Amino acid sequence: MPAISQKGMAMPQSPIRKLVPFAEDAKKRGIKVFHLNIGQPDIKTPQIALDAVKNNTIDVLAYSRSEGSEEYRVKISKYYAKNDIHVNADDILVTTGGSEALLFTFGSIMDAGDEVIIPEPFYANYNGFSTASGVNVVPVVSKIENNFALPPIEDFEKLITSRTKAILICNPGNPTGYLYSKEEIKKLSSIVKKHDLFLVADEVYREFAYDGNEHYSVMLEEGLEEHAIMIDSVSKRYSMCGARIGCIVSKNKDVIATTLKFAQARLSPPTYAQMASEAALETPQRYFDDVIEEYVARRNTLINKLQEIDGVKVAKPKGAFYCIAELPVANSDDFAQWLLEKFDHNGATIMVAPAGGFYSSEGLGLNQVRIAYVLKEEDLITSVSILKEALKQYNAS
Ligand SMILES: Cc1ncc(COP(=O)(O)O)c(C=O)c1O
Repeated sequence: MPAISQKGMAMPQSPIRKLVPFAEDAKKRGIKVFHLNIGQPDIKTPQIALDAVKNNTIDVLAYSRSEGSEEYRVKISKYYAKNDIHVNADDILVTTGGSEALLFTFGSIMDAGDEVIIPEPFYANYNGFSTASGVNVVPVVSKIENNFALPPIEDFEKLITSRTKAILICNPGNPTGYLYSKEEIKKLSSIVKKHDLFLVADEVYREFAYDGNEHYSVMLEEGLEEHAIMIDSVSKRYSMCGARIGCIVSKNKDVIATTLKFAQARLSPPTYAQMASEAALETPQRYFDDVIEEYVARRNTLINKLQEIDGVKVAKPKGAFYCIAELPVANSDDFAQWLLEKFDHNGATIMVAPAGGFYSSEGLGLNQVRIAYVLKEEDLITSVSILKEALKQYNAS
């Protein structure tokens, strides 16, 4: 039989999706599964975006430009200007989701064997994008005790080698919910300038900053123009995960010109979805105010309820819609599977993402899970009571 590539075999499974078959089996057995495992918001997509696709009159669904339609990129630049980020349409390359933006960025700035330093725990698919690009992830550990704040800058510095090409951060963080302060971004800026590295900031949750904290983008840093690359997406901002539209933003002309070559090889981002995303930019501020209010309420309920369970430790998120919870179990992979295979509480169970897959250091996160608070408050309350009962039974068995 012809052999699968080493790279293919090394590709990690998504920790968020690998338990799906067990969840499907549980559902077939009539068990209600509360999905806390995946960042699929239940928030309604803005009507204006849906209508843009429904009401259009095109009769040829053509390719768009590889870098994304001109009109859309001009409107994105205006949206950023409202957030004090001053970029031109030429500094923006539209991609098929933030996922493709990350892949093109990795391909454009790193060769096989190069290294990217990433604070862990991090968005699990960074492992997949790195493997696909032949790049080595060098993790720097952030800790639940500090709410997953930026690790000391000396910890980064110690890890820099001649193969280091970039530091990658996610702000606000998935899976931590941590929002980096201006001071933390400034520290990262100085280190990337000193060592001539790229600073890639995944800002797909930029709109989700809570408690009066302001999101501080890498694009706001003066003197970082050649180093900063921002990754963005409409998926979470407008609850449009299925549109598959994101973008790369950078003032570095070589970066954009190189990502364009990757973009040309895949021809174009989806045309209908660009129309929807362009229309979504007209979404009134009220929509975001309501969404933020909803997520803050959910977060508060979830965190309060989790903290009531003996042996559970949780870092309070300042942004995005995830938290990492430390549980009184030795192996959260086993626990998460057990929840779906062997347990129910009044006919219901929960699906969580074991946190091991969000770390690159072997053995870290084994007693942690990631919880996405993308469900209504009453469902979150039920989910936490299921978790409480499950921990009791699991630890007694
Ligand atoms: C941190 C982060 N970056 C990137 C993505 C990719 O998003 P998409 O490809 O849907 O834009 C996600 C999706 O969950 C994410 O959480």
